[in-house]
Amino acid sequence: MVTSADMRIRIEERINQGLRGQWFPVAKSVELRADRPHGITVLGERLVMWRGADGAIKCIEDYCPHRGAPLSYGEIHDGNIGCRYHGVIVDGTGTVQRVPAMPDCAMEGRKALKDFTVAEHSDAVFVYLPSVDRPEPPELPLPPELSDPAWAGFLCTAVWDCNYRYALDNLADPMHGCYLHAESFTLAFGSKQDLLELDRRDAGFRVSRVGQVGENFDWTEFEVREGGMYCFLDIPYPPAAGPGGHMRILGYVTPVGPKRCKVFFWRMRKVEGLARAAWRFLFRTHLEERHWRVLEQDRVMLEGMPDDARTREMLYQHDIGVAHLRRALNRRAKDQLAAEDALETAAE
Ligand code: FES
Ligand SMILES: [Fe+2]
Repeated sequence: MVTSADMRIRIEERINQGLRGQWFPVAKSVELRADRPHGITVLGERLVMWRGADGAIKCIEDYCPHRGAPLSYGEIHDGNIGCRYHGVIVDGTGTVQRVPAMPDCAMEGRKALKDFTVAEHSDAVFVYLPSVDRPEPPELPLPPELSDPAWAGFLCTAVWDCNYRYALDNLADPMHGCYLHAESFTLAFGSKQDLLELDRRDAGFRVSRVGQVGENFDWTEFEVREGGMYCFLDIPYPPAAGPGGHMRILGYVTPVGPKRCKVFFWRMRKVEGLARAAWRFLFRTHLEERHWRVLEQDRVMLEGMPDDARTREMLYQHDIGVAHLRRALNRRAKDQLAAEDALETAAE
């Protein structure tokens, strides 16, 4: 008999792995080339990607159908990938094209590997990981700023050695700004005491400080859409940081493995014309380094937390964003497990 305690454990395990049925950013566009493969791990799955001659990205399992060598160690031949071990050639759909060592081998023409849907936007490569309840990709959820020419920014990515949930919780927790980042260029301002409030939005929610807005990292908004989630927040900049007002950060977190995630942050400002050139220059020469120092503070803190911190934590009022985010993940995990159970029952 399945008890509710068993179910809770399954849900927790599933959330820790990462929830499928979503788009995830996995690489920067520049990392994908037509002359060499690029291996990635997402939700514990190893995939290999490369560009065809037309620039379109292929993505299949990083696994040679012959004996399992990583295809990402191989080479690209005429738009297909060749295994380094014994030379088997596989195309972008996961079908074996040629077995050069063995004429008329029965493997040729077999679709041996799963292939994945890929999209490219704003210097990032996204991959869709299907789930039982969502085998086909829904629309890729993108922040509107990425398609708005009034905004200009830079994509930064980093690998953090902690479960992705720590990175998401950190984003849903604006109060850490004035403590963890108190020594930074922009995050030393405002009061160190406050209450937080939560507003539900059409898709997602916003968590904000009650007592101040526009002084520090005072709010975060999460967009929780069918195809995945992202968040955004503003960092107020002093006049010394040049034109464009606050810096808006658009963030995605991709689960890599149980103790590793990759964060994707676009640092944006609303700037056009000369102001845009000034922002790009200032960012590269001054601001980027400072911003990296802030991100390092987050990384070091999250990597230092034990993997099971959740089992001993004592949340207080400021954690309403964290709690709300967890409820959203819980619902999603429950739906996915129910769809998988239904499929299994139907098969019996
Ligand atoms: S394992 Fe790839 S060709 Fe043998
Ligand atoms: Fe932070």
